[in-house]
Parts: sequence; C-alpha cells; structure tokens
Amino acid sequence: DWTMGAYREEAVARIREKVGDAKVICALSGGVDSSVAAALIHEAVGDQLTCVFVDHGLLRLNEAEEVVGMFRDHMNLHVIHAEEQELFLGELDGVSDPETKRKIIGRLFIDVFQKYADGIEGAQFLAQGTLYPDVIESVSFSGGPSVTIKSHHNVGGLPEKMGLKLVEPLRELFKDEVRALGHELGLPASFIGRHPFPGPGLAIRCPGEITRDKLEILRKADAVFIDQIRKHGLYDEIWQAFAAILPVRTVGVMGDGRTYDYACALRAVTSVDGMTADFYPFSHDFLGETATRIINEVKGINRVTYDVTSKPPGTIEWE
Ligand code: XMP
Repeated sequence: DWTMGAYREEAVARIREKVGDAKVICALSGGVDSSVAAALIHEAVGDQLTCVFVDHGLLRLNEAEEVVGMFRDHMNLHVIHAEEQELFLGELDGVSDPETKRKIIGRLFIDVFQKYADGIEGAQFLAQGTLYPDVIESVSFSGGPSVTIKSHHNVGGLPEKMGLKLVEPLRELFKDEVRALGHELGLPASFIGRHPFPGPGLAIRCPGEITRDKLEILRKADAVFIDQIRKHGLYDEIWQAFAAILPVRTVGVMGDGRTYDYACALRAVTSVDGMTADFYPFSHDFLGETATRIINEVKGINRVTYDVTSKPPGTIEWE
C-alpha cells in the first residue's frame, strides 16, 4: 500500500525528531493500537523504546506468552513482562462488585506500570496508541462502566505525575488505518485482526468472586469456543466473542455418575463500534458441537448456554 508506506516513513521521521536520543516507555497490552504504536516507535528509535506488558493474571490462555513472545522474538522489541498476578488476584480476593473490580485493577495497573517505568533510567516519553476517534471523543466509550477501553491502558494522569511527555503516533488514524499500518510494519494478520479485549480482562467475565479455579476453567472454555469460531471461519465476522463462567453450579450426568459443576455462557456479537451490538446467529449445529466440546474438554463445566441478548439492553460484557 503506497499511501501507508509513505505515511509510515513520515511518521517515523516525526517520531525521531520529537524523541531525539531520549528513552520511551510504552504499556503494551497486546491490543491492536498499543501493538502498532510500539512497532512504529520501535522502527523509529529502536532500543530507546522499552515496553511494559502488565500481566494481571486475568489474561486468556497463553496470551502473555504469545504477546511477549511475538514482540520479543519476532519483532525484536525490548519487553518487560511484569508478572504481577499475585498482586492483582490478591487484591481482588473476595471482591464481587463489578465497579470495584475495575477500580482495583485500574489503580494497580497504574502502580505497577509506574514501578517498572521508574526502573527505566532516563525515560522521558510515554507512548500511547491513542487513535483519532479517541481524540475527538475522549469520554466514556463503553457506555456504562467507569473505566473505558482507553482509560485502562492509556494511563490517564500518569504522564504529568511522572513528568513524561506523550508520544501518540496514531492520533490521526482511524482503526482500519491502524490495521493497515500494522500490516505495513509486519505485524502478523492474526494479530491485527484480533477482537477487542477489555483492560480488566477475565475479571469481568467471572461474575461474582474471582478464584484461580474459576479463571483456569474459564480460560479453557474460552479457548475451545474461539478455536471453534476459527475452525468454522467465523472469526472475522464477529466483533467480539468469549466465554463467561457463571457463579452457579448445576447438575449433569457423565457416564454412570452425576456431576455438579459450573455453567458457562458463550457470548458473540457483531458491532461497528461496540456501542450497540447484536448477538451472532450461530447455527444450532455449531452451538451443539461447541457445547459438546467444552463439556468434554473442560473439567469443571457441565452446562453451556448461549447469550442471545443484544446491546442495548444488554452490555457486551457480563459485568
Ligand atoms: P460493554 O460491556 O460496555 O462493552 O457493552 C463495550 C466494549 O467495551 C469493552 N469494555 C471494556 N474495556 N475496560 C476496557 O478496557 C473496561 O472496563 C471495559 N468494559 C467493557 C468491551 O469488551 C466491549 O468491547
């Protein structure tokens, strides 16, 4: 793409001019925006960039390894894998209120990011994957919860507090342009086309109290669901898809015995911007096959439901 190629060179030149030989830090979430921002800045200033990937223990199956591995090994970026699972899960212990979960996670995220950033000698810039729509509509995106898509990973207020200047190289771009730029920069297509994932992660897909057991079961069920969607070639038709583990156990039969395990809900929606959404009309065959696979492959789940609520009145997430 000639246009994106030219944009890339121009953006690289601008970043070099702005940053000079100073150091840049970036909170890398593995989402499209922070990934493309990191790749672009890395192209401009190489090892002057350090990314911090905050692992809050609420990520999907193999997610941390995939994101960190891709940026470190494939893209050669300097990435700090902040393994802070114990901290986050400890503070969330016994918490079931959705807004309280978000607040705890948002606060810890900033603390952790700051802790690691403080260890990077001489950092002067903070890179953020802010897009044009975020610039013009800098208020709540998700239409309810107080922590929005952006306010979680775009560490609000932190730059001033830490005396950092902002680098936001995607400020002029729309989402599809960011994807094109990511492609241009050599990010794998599977990465560029990823569904959005909320900052609080699996915490808001585990209604009620979060336990390690539930998270482990949820990760497996979610992975089977996404695998099914990919195998049936439906991933790109769907805006977002995931499993939620319900805070309830139900009775089932398995072989000669009874089981008493968790129920899970599958959620998949189509949407343009996340503000409104329709549930995805899977075939009954797909749903039946997926339910069978989850129950056979995931110990701890014996019942699968499909969420047919659209937004509004529902939200996309369960919390
Ligand atoms: P809802 O559930 O509000 O979600 O219909 C709309 C979009 O926002 C995402 N979402 C969040 N993202 N922090 C985030 O970073 C949050 O607290 C949060 N809550 C919802 C959700 O995944 C969907 O894409």
